[in-house]
Order: sequence, then C-alpha cells, then structure tokens
Amino acid sequence: MLAVHDLEIRVGARVLMDDVTFRVDKGDKIGLVGRNGAGKTTLTKTLAGQAEAANGKIERTGEIGYLPQDPRAGNLDDTARTRILDARGLGHIVVQLRQSTLDMASPDAAVSQAGMDAYTRLEDRFLALGGYAAEAEAAAIASNLALPDRILDQPLKTLSGGQRRRIELARILFSGADTMILDEPTNHLDADSVVWLREFLKGYAGGVIVISHDVFLIEEVVNKVFYLDANRQVIDIYNMGWKNYLKQREADEDRRKKERVNVEKKATTLQLQAARFGAKASKAAAAHQMVARAEKMLAGLDEVRVADRVAKLRFPEPAACGRTPLSASDLSKSYGSLEIFTAVDLAIDRGSKVVVLGLNGAGKTTLLRILAGVDKPDTGQVEAGHGLRVGYYAQEHETIDVNRTVLQNMVGASPQLTETEARKVLGSFLFTGDDGHKPAGVLSGGEKTRLALAMIVVSGANVLLLDEPTNNLDPASREEILGALAGYSGAVVLVSHDEGAVEALNPERVLILPDGVEDHWNPDYADLISLA
Ligand SMILES: Nc1ncnc2c1ncn2[C@@H]1O[C@H](COP(=O)(O)OP(=O)(O)OP(=O)(O)O)[C@@H](O)[C@H]1O
Ligand SMILES: [Mg+2]
Repeated sequence: MLAVHDLEIRVGARVLMDDVTFRVDKGDKIGLVGRNGAGKTTLTKTLAGQAEAANGKIERTGEIGYLPQDPRAGNLDDTARTRILDARGLGHIVVQLRQSTLDMASPDAAVSQAGMDAYTRLEDRFLALGGYAAEAEAAAIASNLALPDRILDQPLKTLSGGQRRRIELARILFSGADTMILDEPTNHLDADSVVWLREFLKGYAGGVIVISHDVFLIEEVVNKVFYLDANRQVIDIYNMGWKNYLKQREADEDRRKKERVNVEKKATTLQLQAARFGAKASKAAAAHQMVARAEKMLAGLDEVRVADRVAKLRFPEPAACGRTPLSASDLSKSYGSLEIFTAVDLAIDRGSKVVVLGLNGAGKTTLLRILAGVDKPDTGQVEAGHGLRVGYYAQEHETIDVNRTVLQNMVGASPQLTETEARKVLGSFLFTGDDGHKPAGVLSGGEKTRLALAMIVVSGANVLLLDEPTNNLDPASREEILGALAGYSGAVVLVSHDEGAVEALNPERVLILPDGVEDHWNPDYADLISLA
C-alpha cells in the first residue's frame, strides 16, 4: 500500500504540485486525471520510486507494479515469455529447465547427469513459485492482451513498441503486485483486450492507480478520482466514482467561477475608487495601494485563464501536388515466417481521406511505415507522385528526436523555418517561452503528440499518414486536433481505434487489412473501428 504525506514535486524550477497527501489502500481503484502536462506521469514515476520528490514522504508497503507511459525496460535478448514470468521470478528458471532437458538427452553421460541434477533442483524452485499453474495464468493474461504464443517466444528486441508495451502490462498484471500504477494501459490494446482489462482491474483485490484517456475504463473501474489541477498545483481528492465526480467537479468549478466573478467585481470597484482618489494629492498613497491590491487580485485570476486554454489548431494548406500524390502496388510484408499482408494496392488521390481497418497485428502500423518510407516492403513498391510531401505521425512518436530540443525538432522538420516562425507555430500548439528549449525527451505523452503534429504542420505535407493520433490527448486537446483534421484539405490515411477521429475525418474510403481490399466508406464500418 502507499501513503503520501505533504509531497511536493518539481521539474526544473517549476512546481507541478505541492502539499499532496493521500493513501492508496487495498481495493482502492483510483483514476488520476488532469490535462496533458499536468504532471500525472511525473507523480506516478515518483510514487514508483523512479524519480525524486522535492519534498515530503512516500511510504510503500508491499510490491508496486508500475507501467510507465513509455516503457523501455528489460533485457532485450530475453524472450517475451521470460520477461513476463520473471515478474514472479519464474522466467529464468523456465529457460534453465529447458536447457537441462536438452542436456539430459545428451550422449555425453557427464552432461546428461549434470542436466538431471540441475533439473531436479530447478523443478523444486519452479513448483515452489507456483509452477505450471502460474505459467498457465501468465499465458492466459498474455493471450487476453492479444499476445499469442508465437510472440511470447520472440526476443524483446524483435518486437514492436506496441507489443513491448503489452508485454510490460502482462508482466505487471501477472506479478500480483499489492499496488499497480498504470500509465495509459489501453494504448496499443484492441477493443477485446480493453474490455478484458476493465474486468480484470475491477476484480483486482489490491490497490490501483490508473491514468487513462479511455473514459469507459475510468468510468467502470475507479471508485476514487484524483484530479491534478495544473493551475492550482494541487490534487483534489474525490472519494466517489466517475459519474458522481463529474457532477461534483462541475459544482466546484461553478463555485470557483462565481468566486472569480466576485473578485473581478471587487477589483473593478477598487480601481474606480483609486481613479477618483488619484486625482487628489492627499489620497495618492491610498489610491496607489488600491491599484496594487486590484492588480494582485487580477493577477491571480489571469493565471487560471491562461492555463485553461487549449491548442487552437489548423493544419495549413498543403503544398501543391499532382492528382495522385501517393500510390503503392503489390505490397507485401512478412516478419520471419509470419506473413502480415500480401498484394496490397493503394492509390491516394489529392485530398482524399482513407481509413485503414484491421484487427491488432493485421499490419496497420507496418503499412503506414512502408508508405512513409521508414520500412521497406518485401515485394512491391511505393510510388511518389508529383509534388508529394508526406507527413508521418508515428504512434511511438519516433519522428521526434528525444536528444534535441523542441525548437531543433521543428527546424529539423522544415529546415527553411526561422526560429520566430517555429515559435509561432509552437505557440498555437500550446508550447510557450522556455518550452522551446526543453529536450524533447522530457515532454509528457500529450506534449509529444502535440510536437509531432506541429512538426507535420510546418512541413507543408500534402499526404498525412496518421497512426493513432488521439492516444494520450486530454479531451480538450483531442477536440482541437479533430477539429483541425476535419478542416484539412490535403489527403489523410488514418489508423485509429477512436470512433470520434474517424467521424471527424469523414472518410470516403476504407482499406481493410490484411486482405488489402478497398471499399467505399459506409456507416457499417463505424462499428468495426473500436473493434479493430
Ligand atoms: N526534466 C524536465 N525538465 C523540464 N520539464 C519537465 C521535465 N520532466 C517533465 N517536464 C515537464 O513537466 C510537465 C509534466 O509532465 P508529465 O509527463 O508528468 O505530464 P502528464 O500529466 O503525464 O501529461 P500527459 O497527459 O500528456 O501524459 C510537462 O510539461 C513536462 O514537459
Ligand atoms: Mg503522462
């Protein structure tokens, strides 16, 4: 369990939150919410012991399982199965058991005997840790997260970012930790897995802190809501489920709004009075004090207003291009013996909107990577039409160079861009002042999404290839991005589980993977989106 006293968290000179006190007990299912960049990830990292607090105390009892927003853990040569089983110390035992089985069959009597001895010793430890039942439990969790046996036997280094993330999630769910801290666990999950995860978390006996942009998950799972208010740098604790929280929060905001109006009224009164007094020399000092007081009152308010705004976005006019800027013929791709798709033909006309549908593993991300020129197809080719400029948004934010600053990334995306222009675009994506000099690696999930999209904006792309562009976004930023998408006049190829995103795009066509057949869009396909 977790107990937090008077916690203060800073990044650089900025205070993200102060005076935070709470407990997480058995059976607490806590939804941690707050806008992008509020500090949710930083808080959970600190709770998990991977970052230092500026002040305060964190007491941890029992094991904590932490799923970071951007996991990069584990020995890359281990198989996925070993990584998961190791959560209960079983992974390497299973590997050694296999080796000793091989040794036992050796024609060399000494090797065979050593194998037999090792086997007995290992099997005892294996059984003590839960043995075959535990192994079956791990396999069941993995399969519910769309990780079949075939993938479990691969070394981590051969897996995609999405698969790695699901493996980390499986590992934590399997670990039986007393407290689980999950940062955006539904990213990269298909609809079936999300439903399964909800049930799993609901039934979990330990404590859970979950950050998720999936409102259904929050609604069904949590019995407490922690609202991290970035303007006030505090956490408001609501000991209630999601629906009641929403009502309560609205009431709270109403109250605060009224207080704000009140303060404004008082400040105006002070200012008027000061103006009258100011005319007379005898009352100049009082007038001065009144003005100062009014300014102080209003300064407190402005901060709230500034921080409340969201990105006002418009994707720019795309650069001119021919009738069919991007086409591909006979594309196929396999990983090892696994065929992902074969003979996919595709023509993207100027301004056309296409949605790519297919279940997890059907190759949607792979197709986009091939179209973007990041991966090579095994057969077939991608043909660039006249004037083609691709804007690729990668699910893993891999178009961002994490070692360079935000501004350097912008200039990298469009070399002729001046710093002033770059700052202007960044401003419309809610990056202010010093943010430009942040190394991109420290950005929050939602901030990375915004930067990646800003980079596309300045590149003048006429074909956007978007892979799950709404993951990680808070509701207000999501609305902005979808609004911009709806108004964009260039071509878009979209991969998304988000029905709202597809609706905003208003596609004419759909490409279904792995078959690679195209069809006109019709509303029946909408039902498939969340399943895909
Ligand atoms: N080392 C650092 N230096 C400067 N700023 C940092 C550093 N680390 C994090 N930040 C900033 O702290 C803020 C909080 O980041 P955090 O990742 O905790 O947000 P979040 O609430 O998880 O957001 P999201 O919903 O987008 O994931 C962000 O503005 C981020 O850019
Ligand atoms: Mg985060």
